[in-house]
Amino acid sequence: MKAIVIEGGERLVGEVRVSGAKNAALPALAATLLVNDICRFTNVPHLRDVETFRALLENLGARLQWRGKGEMEVDTSNIKGVTAPYELVKTMRASILILGPLLARMGEAVVSLPGGCAIGARPVDLHLKGLEQLGAQIVLEHGYIKAKAPKLKGAQIYLDIPTVTGTENLMMAAVMAKGTTVIENAACEPEVEELAQILVKMGADIEGAGTKILTIRGVEKLRPVVYSIMPDRIEAGTLMVAVGITRGNVLIKGCRLEHLEAVVGKLREAGLEISPLEEKGVRVVGDHGIRSADIKTLPYPGFPTDMQAQFMALMTLANGISVISETIFENRFMHVSELSRMGADIRVQGSTAIVNGVARLSGAPVMATDLRASASLVLAGLAAEGRTVVSRAYHLERGYEDLEGKLASLGAKVRKVDLDEGADKLG
Ligand code: EPZ
Repeated sequence: MKAIVIEGGERLVGEVRVSGAKNAALPALAATLLVNDICRFTNVPHLRDVETFRALLENLGARLQWRGKGEMEVDTSNIKGVTAPYELVKTMRASILILGPLLARMGEAVVSLPGGCAIGARPVDLHLKGLEQLGAQIVLEHGYIKAKAPKLKGAQIYLDIPTVTGTENLMMAAVMAKGTTVIENAACEPEVEELAQILVKMGADIEGAGTKILTIRGVEKLRPVVYSIMPDRIEAGTLMVAVGITRGNVLIKGCRLEHLEAVVGKLREAGLEISPLEEKGVRVVGDHGIRSADIKTLPYPGFPTDMQAQFMALMTLANGISVISETIFENRFMHVSELSRMGADIRVQGSTAIVNGVARLSGAPVMATDLRASASLVLAGLAAEGRTVVSRAYHLERGYEDLEGKLASLGAKVRKVDLDEGADKLG
């Protein structure tokens, strides 16, 4: 069992480059099912979830090859299968993203229901309802979604919730449907917009990318693409918090501030100095102390739920009280009890956490429960006095490309160890 060991108290200084976005890479890989050829992506992050998606696609008959750092070649000219098995889907909910494109290409798909996860029940009812409106016949049987659609046809779809992967699934199902599809109350996240751009580059006819209303006119066929994946805005935000919590001074390269306005606004309110330096990157300075700030997670362009746990770690050391409201997922406070073990003063009432800043945190053995919670614990460990050991580090590996290496390059005393080799490994 891998763990991250951090000796806290080091100020982060230097420069670091953000990797490609997990939540843009996964839908991009799914979209390759829509073409019968070879696509090439660059700036693909080497993550556990990307490897899981690769296994999903190879199980269908695709061939995926890493061609050098960050470059992935995807050959979908020989797709035979239509099934995404439970063994793979249960480890990564984003597997649901193959449902739409597989249905569009093969006329049928058998995808395991993802089931819940640590942060919530995470149903996919809106994905299925939209696909039925596009003409799919869907049966739920033995834990699987069994969908058939000899020919998808355009429809007027209103999403009760602006679901990110739901919007992405329906967009991919609609691009070769017969007629026009309008998706209202669509998700506007930059990763959704990027998928629309990839589909358009493949030859799809999509209007309104990045807005709440998508108009998709079905086309006959799509062509392969070469595309560079956008930088990961959540990793960029996580690194900004790392600078703030250690009172550091770091140049973060490759991030696009226009995708992080809500996060940057709140970090500035919390006392961080964040200055864009044109193409060089963004200078982040955290040595002005940490002020408390309230946040409420909302769909884009609101404050992203994927940054809530990281922001909370910063607020545990703020001077004052901050109120953190989580409106997207029903159980995304799993990091609270672990932060409390480190001396944080946090009270949870329903979907709100009240954080009373303390003067210091103390290192402790803690357990990661989900991807962003594990990032939050690492951030707290950077500032805590003494040693923090974050177990179940595989959560972190799912969505961050060598985060511990990036932090170490900035001066943090952080390393990954294998706890099974005995605690003496901790040194
Ligand atoms: C995407 O998940 C991201 N994952 C999540 O990132 C992110 O937290 C989330 O969007 C919100 O921004 C990927 O892009 C791979 P939703 P997704 O559907 O699409 C409810 C991370 O840390 N809902 O937008 O699954 C749902 O329960 C991950 O990188 C339904 O009720 O999220 C939730 O409360 C975690 N029915 C809300 O909508 C549905 O059919 C938003 O979920 C679909 C969703």
